[in-house]
Formats: sequence, structure tokens, C-alpha cells
Amino acid sequence: MFDKDKKLIFSGIQPTGVFTLGNYIGAVRNWGPLQDEYNCIYCIVDLHAITVKQEPAVLRKNTLGAYALLLACGIDPEKSIAFIQSHNPNHAELSWVLSCSTQFGELSRMTQFKDKSAKHADNINAGLFTYPVLMAADILAYNADLVPIGADQKQHLELARNIAVRFNQKYSETFTVPEPYIPTVGARVMSLQDPEKKMSKSDANPNACVYILDDKDTIIRKFKRAVTDSEAEVVYREGKAGINNLITIYSAVTGKAVAEVEREFEGKGYGDFKLAVGEAVADSLENVRTEYARLIADKAYLEQCYKQGAEQAYSISRRVVSKAYKKVGFIQR
Ligand code: TYM
Repeated sequence: MFDKDKKLIFSGIQPTGVFTLGNYIGAVRNWGPLQDEYNCIYCIVDLHAITVKQEPAVLRKNTLGAYALLLACGIDPEKSIAFIQSHNPNHAELSWVLSCSTQFGELSRMTQFKDKSAKHADNINAGLFTYPVLMAADILAYNADLVPIGADQKQHLELARNIAVRFNQKYSETFTVPEPYIPTVGARVMSLQDPEKKMSKSDANPNACVYILDDKDTIIRKFKRAVTDSEAEVVYREGKAGINNLITIYSAVTGKAVAEVEREFEGKGYGDFKLAVGEAVADSLENVRTEYARLIADKAYLEQCYKQGAEQAYSISRRVVSKAYKKVGFIQR
């Protein structure tokens, strides 16, 4: 199905609940438009999800939900490969090989590991530590050229690049060294309640995070309660983290430049601005909500799509993993 002349894109997202507005603006909404220009492979990374505690039945439900959301966000399984990570054993196999080319020190420096081990102090498991190696395997197993991600994944991508370069030096040219593909607007959407922190599903405050399936009233309410500052000027400037975040979100969903947004709200109060951001966000998500409702009701279709995706993903990645196995000196079966 893939055109040999096109570059290959790989990205993944965890099935830990409904995607946030951060996931959407920073990553997923950019994936659909790439499908015509690139060969795209998108993955629901359930293996990554179990690095923190998961209720099995909830994980199952969230994985199917995340898969449906991926399609609702515009990923077309006829144009791209869309699959579930645990359906393709090549990721876990390659991860082991790559872990032997990754240093303890490098993994110790990963800020996400430090953050997550602080947050889950009772469950600092080995998988949480080696998580970035599995992520490198996800990408390198397809020889991906580009990886569309939000800014918080940049350090992991940098590690994947280092692992690829090191393996290639040790065993001769095997993997493509991937490039990050980070959006210029919205690469880091911040919490609505604490705009110094990134918007995240794990935030305890329900008003901090907008989920892309929230209904219009909920979205507007969350934006109305967004933390801002004591001034009354809608301008993007240092020291106005809350307003900067809202301007970024508004700019991302409307396509308007920051200066244009500032002009639009000149002389208007924060109340008007917050309402406008809430409405623009809710309107931009309306199609996703409708599509999701349609898709999640059609389990047979979803199953057909993820099975097909897994077969396609398996066959591409098997060739790469076999090559890596040969390079390290494993006897072929
Ligand atoms: P995950 O599931 O945490 O997030 C999925 C994508 O959403 C982006 N993102 C954000 N972007 C902007 N603002 C935010 N507040 C925000 N929150 C999340 C993330 O940068 C990401 O692009 N380890 C990855 C999943 C993964 C992966 C991969 C990605 C596994 N293997 C291979 C790319 C390639 C993760 O946990 O993303």
C-alpha cells in the first residue's frame, strides 16, 4: 500500500483515557494531514501504558476507545497503517536488542522517568525505566524518517536517534536515524489551572484538562475557569503564562496568527476571550465527537481495521528486525 518514494512517518499515543486537547493540538490532529504526502504508521501503544498501574478491563476498553479516536481524528486505515502495539511482537523483540545498546546513565537522565517515578513512587518498575528503549524500537522497527510529536517527547526521540547511530556504528548501517516533527504552534499545551505545567490526563484537577470528547458546555466551562493573571490585556508576553496558553490554543484551532488574535481582542476583557477560546475549541472538535460516536458503535469495523493494520505493520517491521538480528550475530531460524 505504501509508495516507495515517500518518506515514512511513525507516531504513537498511549491508551490511558480520552485524548487531551494537548494530545490533539500537539500531535494527533497533525497526523491526518500528513497522510497524502507521507507513508504513515500510527500506533496505540498499550505496551507503554502498563508501565503505570492499569485495570485490565479498563485498559482493554481504553485501547479500543483510543483506536476509534485515532480514526475519528482523521486517520484513514486505507491510506495509513493504524494498529495496536501489542498485536505486533516485533516492537518488544527489537526493544530487547536495543536495550543492550542503551546505557543505564542515558535512561537515568530522562525527565519523564524522573517525573513519573516521583508520581508513582510505589511502582518504579523496570518497564518505566526502559520505556524510552521500547519507544526507540517502535520507531526504528519501521525505519521511520519523521516522528510527529509534542515537545515533551523530544528527549525520547533524541535518545532513539542516539541508539540508532550507535547501533549503526557498531554493526554497520541498519536503522534510519529519525527526525522529530514538532508543530510550531501548540507543541506544549499547558494546564488550564496551572499554566506552568503541561496539560496532562493525570492532573488531579478536572478543570485543568480538556478532553477531546468533552461536550461543548463542559469545554466552555473549563475555559471560563482557566487561570489567567490580574491584568486585563489579551497579549502574548512573558509573565502571562495563562493568557499565552489560551492565545496559543486559540491560534492553533482557528489558524489565526498571534498578532491577529491580539488585535481581535484589543480592548476586550478576559471573560470575552475565554468564552471565544472555549467556543472555538468546542466547534473544532465537533466532528471528532460525532465520528467517534459512530465508530465506537461499530466494533466489527474497528476489529477489521486493527487486524489489517497489525498484519501490515508486522510485515514491514519483521524485515527490519530480522536484519538487526542478523547484524548482532543471531543464527537465522
Ligand atoms: P503520549 O501518549 O503521552 O502523548 C501522545 C502525543 O501527544 C503529545 N502531547 C502533547 N502535546 C502538546 N501539549 C501537551 N500538553 C501534550 N501532551 C501530550 C505527546 O508529545 C505525544 O506526541 N511515549 C509517547 C508515545 C509513544 C510514541 C512512540 C510517540 C510511544 N512510542 C513512538 C512517537 C513515536 C507518549 O507517551 O505519548
